Amino acid sequence: MNVAVIGIGRIGLPVATAIASRGHTVLGCDTDGARVAQVNRGENPIPDEAGLGELLARVVAAGTLQATSETTAAVARCGTVLFAVAVDVDADGRADLSNLEAACASVAAGLRPGTLCIFDTTLPIGTTRRVLTPLLERGGLRVGVDFHVAFSPERLLMGRVIEDLTKYPKVVGGVDADGGRKAAEFYRAVYGGDVFELANAETAELSKLAEGAYRDLNIALANELAQVADAHGVDFLEVIRAANSQPYAHLHSPGTGVGGHCIPVYPRFLIQGAGPSSLSARGREVNDAMPAYAVERVASVAGSLERKRVVIMGLTFRPNVAVTAHSNASDLCREFEARGARVFGHDPLLTEEGVRSLGFEPAPEPLSGYNIAVMHSYHAAYAATDWRSLAPILLDARNAVDRASVEASGVVYVGIGRPLHID
Ligand SMILES: NC(=O)c1ccc[n+]([C@@H]2O[C@H](COP(=O)([O-])OP(=O)(O)OC[C@H]3O[C@@H](n4cnc5c(N)ncnc54)[C@H](O)[C@@H]3O)[C@@H](O)[C@H]2O)c1
Repeated sequence: MNVAVIGIGRIGLPVATAIASRGHTVLGCDTDGARVAQVNRGENPIPDEAGLGELLARVVAAGTLQATSETTAAVARCGTVLFAVAVDVDADGRADLSNLEAACASVAAGLRPGTLCIFDTTLPIGTTRRVLTPLLERGGLRVGVDFHVAFSPERLLMGRVIEDLTKYPKVVGGVDADGGRKAAEFYRAVYGGDVFELANAETAELSKLAEGAYRDLNIALANELAQVADAHGVDFLEVIRAANSQPYAHLHSPGTGVGGHCIPVYPRFLIQGAGPSSLSARGREVNDAMPAYAVERVASVAGSLERKRVVIMGLTFRPNVAVTAHSNASDLCREFEARGARVFGHDPLLTEEGVRSLGFEPAPEPLSGYNIAVMHSYHAAYAATDWRSLAPILLDARNAVDRASVEASGVVYVGIGRPLHID
């Protein structure tokens, strides 16, 4: 098969590479010329994506994956088009479809009769049918008659995309009936795994939003119960272990909030326009309030934060992945600064410019002599941290650090839903 993948970013590139490695001819289309050139040299732009480097070098050398900025010409050579262009939220919390709409315009101009278009990007309900398909039809072909459209969300974790591609069933739903059926056939042929063919695109869109809303709300519940635990001096990690020891509870972990492209974003697609889901809105409020709660908890130990030197370590949204979208590290920085603290940022996965772009003053190495340290994303590179010389107080934003070793160094440990041990 000849497949065009539109958007060869964190998701699109591993997807394109995996399809090419199965013997199909893939054209990866992107407006980012530097990325196109890098991929065509066989160089991996996403080094923290497991297995991608080796596979990418192989498929580029074999000629089964080629990158291009000429989307329209590439689409004209392909029977299947996958869209993996990112959709984020704007300042009002509404889906910003501008990049995806531009991609549709480029694709529409190259569409041929019989082409199957599949949208992989998570979308508000109804977007595939009502917003994107009409843009594709502007090329002159009619959906369900001349070409086909389906929605099929990616259910992948950054860092292990290639493994996840075949780990869970692929969910598909068509805008036209043939679109759903053809998309299911495509994924069975390419990945060979299970495919859930749903009634239509809207069902598939809501299934992905439901996965995200479930996780965001579950974390919000954990965050609220962790505050109850704090009020009563109870260790919430013990509570989770006990409650989850029967099959009906699946409590997630509390922390200083939820980051990344996905979980904090998708509930907003259910709040704005395509909802309304008042629970999703409430979950967002609870999770968005966690940085202020965490900083208040530190202040309950440290007293006034005025002129305190604070270092926040691990600025990415989760450990060992160099992605900073919606990272709570910036929210924690804002909360500390609002109380007069001087905040420094450190992350071995980011350049100094990357640290500055998140609003931080880069922390000079070695890290020592602060009043307060925050372990936000506990990267493997922090495993040998000398807690004693770092700071007398540690905020463990994700309850990820070994508390006993921190306290054995004489450092006061502050967690979320963890009792304070202070004399
Ligand atoms: N990142 C995740 O963990 C994850 C997980 C599951 C699903 N998803 C879905 O995948 C989508 C893509 O996420 P990502 O992390 O790969 O984003 P990304 O920003 O890494 O990649 C998007 C790519 O699209 C390119 N692009 C922008 N406009 C374009 C256009 N008009 N034509 C061609 N290319 C264009 C960009 O240059 C970029 O390379 C997300 O919106 C989300 O719905 C992401």
